Amino acid sequence: MPTETILIADDDASMRAMLREFLADEGYETIEVETGSAVESAISEQNPALVLMDIRLPDKSGLDVLKELKGPQKPVIVMTAFGGSGVAIEAMRLGAYDYITKPFDLDDVSQVLKRYFDHRQLTQHVAELSEAITRNDPSDPLVGNSPAMQEVYKQIGRVAASDATVLITGETGTGKELIASILHRTSRYSRGRLVKVNCAALPESLLESELFGHEKGAFTGAVAQRKGRFELADKGTIFLDEIGEMTLATQKKLLRVLQEREFERVGGQLTVKVDTRVIAATNKILTQEVEAGRFREDLYYRLNVIDIYLPPLREREGDIPLLVEALIDRHRSNPGTTPIRISQGALEKLETYSWPGNVRELENVVQRALVLAQGGVISEQHISFAGTDGRRLIDIGERVRRGVDLPEMLADIERTAIEEALDIAGGDRKEAASLLTISLTEFNKRAKTFDL
Ligand SMILES: Nc1ncnc2c1ncn2[C@@H]1O[C@H](COP(=O)(O)OP(=O)(O)OP(=O)(O)O)[C@@H](O)[C@H]1O
Ligand SMILES: [Mg+2]
Repeated sequence: MPTETILIADDDASMRAMLREFLADEGYETIEVETGSAVESAISEQNPALVLMDIRLPDKSGLDVLKELKGPQKPVIVMTAFGGSGVAIEAMRLGAYDYITKPFDLDDVSQVLKRYFDHRQLTQHVAELSEAITRNDPSDPLVGNSPAMQEVYKQIGRVAASDATVLITGETGTGKELIASILHRTSRYSRGRLVKVNCAALPESLLESELFGHEKGAFTGAVAQRKGRFELADKGTIFLDEIGEMTLATQKKLLRVLQEREFERVGGQLTVKVDTRVIAATNKILTQEVEAGRFREDLYYRLNVIDIYLPPLREREGDIPLLVEALIDRHRSNPGTTPIRISQGALEKLETYSWPGNVRELENVVQRALVLAQGGVISEQHISFAGTDGRRLIDIGERVRRGVDLPEMLADIERTAIEEALDIAGGDRKEAASLLTISLTEFNKRAKTFDL
């Protein structure tokens, strides 16, 4: 643990000397000041972990100093004269952590310090924990009973009992992060933390220190030693999201962690060992990234010990009614009241859409519909798709990457064109045919192949 620095603020030199010696024995570093204004500048310049401050300072009262410090709780323990309980209460109200009355036993000081540092560690732990958890409420259950989803459940069941590294693949919004949190909760690592890292969100230079931590002075701005995500996830799970975006250099370091379960902090010599479950996710097709030389083949095999593929929503329309029900429940403003209904027409509109954004897009559409329906029945007019106005959207690039064959893609385009033409012509087939500059017979023939 790095040495903590404590700022002593007292105009009495013998008091400072006594505290200085005592704190040095206890393993702290100290800084000393004599006035209130010096407290403020020492805090902003030297960032001590804690301030031990006499309430009566020559230039201003300690209470005034407290008032000027920011934040609801301040890392300050005030020293008050015996009998000054009113002042002590006021100091606490202004956000001091605690107070001790003069004259005091050094034992008292020791206890207050211990309480403070324990408390701080706990708060930090909770903050890190909730940061990792809040992105996806772990109570969100997984919904769907299509054959494709049943396959996913089986895979989860098989992996749950093992410590194996898992690679979760699937298009955007298919539930990769949700699966990762379920895998964590069902594993023997569930007592540890689930620490998430979005590999796409950080530039390479930061990603490395984010993952592995750094030593003090490793680079400009590294003012203190910092633990990386792998260390935070010790005895827990690390979720490497968007792993396809990781640079080759960082991939190399990650490979070593997967092989040896050890690494060094950036700028450090010391080898750190961790026992961490690794789950990675990507919406890229990693075999293609490997072929293109953007992803290390050895790392791919290390990650892909178990592969869970989440099929796109358009390939499991059967799950839509269940998902809609679950999402309505998740997002309606008054849980527990009468269930909100959805009309058959609205449901059909949802079932025939192509869902390029998958479940996340469905979630957005449901949320919007809930607002518009205002607690009543959700009907067709409450359903709208961002930008596409309900029409099917074909992402050709995405399909080429997924290996959809040309005839299927062309058929999809044809179908979309026919639907659009009908829509624009207000259902008039003759007009729709002339919009597409084909004969009505030709139009009807093609429409028939698509059951339109
Ligand atoms: N099968 C499911 N049942 C219930 N909710 C789901 C299901 N799949 C996804 N969701 C919900 O859809 C939203 C998007 O899921 P998630 O963030 O896990 O997707 P993702 O695959 O990680 O997307 P991206 O690749 O864009 O990061 C979340 O709110 C999640 O709870
Ligand atoms: Mg995600």
